[in-house]
Amino acid sequence: MPATVVLGAQWGDEGKGRVTDLFARDADCVVRYQGGNNAGHTIVVGSERFALSLVPSGVMYPGVTPVIASGVVIDPQVLLAEMSMLEERGVDPSRLRISGNAHLIMPYHRKLDTVMERYLGRNRIGTTKRGIGPAYTDKIARTGIRVQDLFDPAIFADKLETVLTEKNKILTRVYNQLPMKSSGIVDEYLRYADQLLPMVDDTSLLIWEALAGGKDVLFEGAQGTLLDIDHGTYPFVTSSNPTAGGAAIGAGVGPKVLDRVVGVAKAYISRVGSGPFPTELQDEAGDRMVDVGGEYGTVTGRRRRCGWLDLVALRYARRVNSLTELFITKLDVLSGFDTIRAATGYRSGSDTYSEFPRQQRVLYNCSPVYEELDGWDEDITDTRRFEDLPGPARRYIEFIEDQAGVPVNWVSVGPERGQVIIRR
Ligand code: IMP
Repeated sequence: MPATVVLGAQWGDEGKGRVTDLFARDADCVVRYQGGNNAGHTIVVGSERFALSLVPSGVMYPGVTPVIASGVVIDPQVLLAEMSMLEERGVDPSRLRISGNAHLIMPYHRKLDTVMERYLGRNRIGTTKRGIGPAYTDKIARTGIRVQDLFDPAIFADKLETVLTEKNKILTRVYNQLPMKSSGIVDEYLRYADQLLPMVDDTSLLIWEALAGGKDVLFEGAQGTLLDIDHGTYPFVTSSNPTAGGAAIGAGVGPKVLDRVVGVAKAYISRVGSGPFPTELQDEAGDRMVDVGGEYGTVTGRRRRCGWLDLVALRYARRVNSLTELFITKLDVLSGFDTIRAATGYRSGSDTYSEFPRQQRVLYNCSPVYEELDGWDEDITDTRRFEDLPGPARRYIEFIEDQAGVPVNWVSVGPERGQVIIRR
């Protein structure tokens, strides 16, 4: 490894959970660096499915230290429920380390996420309504409450009182909601404090020491490049930085320690929520991707919008992340299509684009320029060697590699741990 970032190269839901699960086997630490319980990772172990939203996938391996770093926003109620679920199913979550600098998602964040979306009407973002955006907003506004604040009840109550006064004005006067009481929130959060305290740590130092000791650290991104607050399809994005730079900031390491940046991309593409999507399919092919690929959100159960692979976006992901490798997931979902398409450019009026357009308007009104490749009929879910894939499937992967300019080192052909082709 030694310092490897695994991140989404599309709009999230690329199957990063299974990738980090595969890599976590050889890691000493697995670090979540941004996002919160808007993410959903499904890990399939034998007949068991584990849906995780906050706890890093590394928790499944007893030798791994799972870390929630300072760039994450934590809903303690969700975190503790996830830990209990793991414990009940025989997975020990007690090795989890949590940054005291991570910000907390508070009840008013969840409330605001819901009412703000309602207020936006047809301009809504389509958020997961988990309070992610409002929690990051407070972090930047410097009115956020951090994990470490839980351990000084007077400071916690004081900070809460100040921020709640403002939030209640917004809730009642702007959104016509009832105000929230601070006493209930204080009692609830101080109860969480007792349970969280043994896990709170200086996670930047922990990662530093692990790397200095020659250990392998895996940085696990949530969401994806095109949902990045700075580099995604703003405003239809999440409120953090899933891109590789976010790993450095969110984990508290310098960018030079990151040795490898693995982009995870599906063999097609999907997005949930609103926003432009040049290769979106609103036909039978799209429905088939949804059905065969099981394209429903892990967190919200929403049907994902699906379309052909967008290589313009993938090249963009390569650039903004300095990707060193690609992991292509769900190739099996494309079995049975006569023809496979992939966008190599966009056309808008008389202009063609081979790079992601700097003017977002173009993304709404462009038509993809497709390359058509032969499909394959064979079931590839039991294939474990690249050479054993049907010729058209191999050529599709080589085409992606060529277009993206990054080696495709892994291809997954099914959801289970073992259903992966390791090329290099
Ligand atoms: P938020 O992160 O809940 O604020 O939602 C903002 C946007 O990011 C919405 O379009 C969500 O659907 C999208 N989003 C957030 N988390 C994920 C994810 O894990 N996978 C895919 N989309 C996500």
